[in-house]
Amino acid sequence: PSRPAIAAKHPYQVDLKAGKLYAWCACGHSKKQPFCDGSHKTATPDISPLRFQLEEAKSAWLCGCKHTKSPPYCDGTHKEEFVQKAELPRQL
Ligand code: FES
Repeated sequence: PSRPAIAAKHPYQVDLKAGKLYAWCACGHSKKQPFCDGSHKTATPDISPLRFQLEEAKSAWLCGCKHTKSPPYCDGTHKEEFVQKAELPRQL
């Protein structure tokens, strides 16, 4: 199975709306972080985005390193050494 790529060494703060269907990028290859842009289909076909919907609007920190244990939310894993020392692909 594929491992997710580290998209960022930090979480993304986003204002989430009530009732909207979101797709959090789980593979790390999306150019529209923290959300899925369909890149997983070619980059890592065995990883799918995490789709979620909230009943109430809220501001949240969504995981950017893609190694959180409570997706789609940041759980602080990005502070670990394997994330902080990782080489990131050049962002366009
Ligand atoms: Fe990463 Fe879709 S682009 S899960």
